[in-house]
Amino acid sequence: MTTPKIIHTVSELRAAIADWRGGGARIGLVPTMGALHDGHLSLIQAIGKYADRIVVSIFVNPAQFAPHEDFDSYPRNLDGDCAKLAGTDAGIVFAPTVREMYPDGFATRLLVGGPAEGLESDHRPHFFGGVATIVSKLLIAAMPDAAMFGEKDYQQLLVIRRMVTDLALPIAIPGGAIMREADGLAMSSRNAYLSQSERAIAGQLNVVLKTAIARLKAGDAIGAVEAQARDALLKAGFANVDYVAVRDAQTLAKIDDLSKPARILAAAKVGTTRLIDNMAV
Ligand code: PAF
Repeated sequence: MTTPKIIHTVSELRAAIADWRGGGARIGLVPTMGALHDGHLSLIQAIGKYADRIVVSIFVNPAQFAPHEDFDSYPRNLDGDCAKLAGTDAGIVFAPTVREMYPDGFATRLLVGGPAEGLESDHRPHFFGGVATIVSKLLIAAMPDAAMFGEKDYQQLLVIRRMVTDLALPIAIPGGAIMREADGLAMSSRNAYLSQSERAIAGQLNVVLKTAIARLKAGDAIGAVEAQARDALLKAGFANVDYVAVRDAQTLAKIDDLSKPARILAAAKVGTTRLIDNMAV
């Protein structure tokens, strides 16, 4: 356990990592947008298998929010986050300013396809381009041996793996298991937006997905199960359902049967809060 050093610039980050590397350490990076919860802390613990020294980045990335989304209200609490990290193996907190990551005149944005197509992109078309742009910048700045992302954002994890392969970055991208509250709600910084009554509804998302998986395993058709799950979410009180989809677990391509590993993914709104979840089928 260490008290992490807080670094705000790419040049200081590179110098600190060069120092670690000089001592022969393997470097791990856990990119976050802060508002840290136990899900993030589990990623920091899990990356210990791949790295001797750990950097946690905290940066609310404007490029992945559309103008109508919650960039301004996204919870920010660097002091609170650093206090939580003091009990972990994170050695550096990299907390750059927006200007550090996107200096005046910044004009580059990654275009991602493959697993980025459909699902989230149908509802947040700006999202994966913004994620890929910032994650590539963070990876190039830190050049870690491994960077860890949560399976909660399963499509994001596949998009980043594809990007790292396509850019030939020599960085392992392990996925961290989803951490859940007692009622099964996937941990997320956005859960803080939920009122008490919305929180009760939110707890139904994982229940509906588990029921859908049981139906698939009992032999029900994929299309019928997706439609039933969507109805169940609306009945449970979700305001609208962006998707419930059973997809190929590796590519997120549409599938007709369960002959290959599959994943069920969902996005739905409770009040104005959009929640996502997914599970292996
Ligand atoms: O999953 C997140 O918190 C963000 O999308 C990430 C990967 C830190 C990029 O801003």
